[in-house]
Amino acid sequence: MAVSLREPILQWYAEHNRDLPWRRPDATPWGILVSEIMLQQTPVSRVLPIWTDWMARWPAPEALAEASPGEAVRHWGRLGYPRRALNLHACARAITAEHGGRVPATYDELRALPGIGDYTAAAVASFAYGGSHAVLDTNVRRVLARAVRGEEHPPKTTTATERRLAESLIPPVGAPRWAVSIMELGALVCTARAPRCERCPVASQCAWRSAGRPAGPVRRGQT
Ligand code: ADE
Repeated sequence: MAVSLREPILQWYAEHNRDLPWRRPDATPWGILVSEIMLQQTPVSRVLPIWTDWMARWPAPEALAEASPGEAVRHWGRLGYPRRALNLHACARAITAEHGGRVPATYDELRALPGIGDYTAAAVASFAYGGSHAVLDTNVRRVLARAVRGEEHPPKTTTATERRLAESLIPPVGAPRWAVSIMELGALVCTARAPRCERCPVASQCAWRSAGRPAGPVRRGQT
């Protein structure tokens, strides 16, 4: 049963998680939203200094809303995909104009903001507000593909089957902690190219490993 993945992964996270500023108890919903946009296509090590600078400059959506779009792009630095800076700026203006300057708490309200897709809406609703959502980033999808389905890589785009599986694993209490735990396992251990199965808390129940780690097709968009 896939639910038997939960306890070992939660336990592993308790011992091995990275201390990142947007995961700390004092992180604000705005800081979490900014982090999720920055982390979409950029590794943690490159995001950290830019996120820190950004939050010092624009600690709340109203502050960024007062800046120009050009300033947002300038302070995006070298994170890449600068359209994300423009989206974040548009988000700040929408949050200021339509939500009184508070990052909205529900999936639907978040999803309606500029540049916020399914993943980011679920991540912010969960990490910032404790919501119970399937947070399906590429790391989570890879862990589930391997451990449960015995495949090296997840499908190119999220399927209804993956979503049902992810939803069935959300614990009744502590959904955000579960989401970040399985995400971290995918980021640090169950990596795309060189998985460290010897360090994996669920190696003994992994369908891919017990099948001898068969190579799957490399799919476009994989990171
Ligand atoms: N913690 C919360 N969300 C994260 C993400 N997208 N990447 C890395 N760490 C995270």
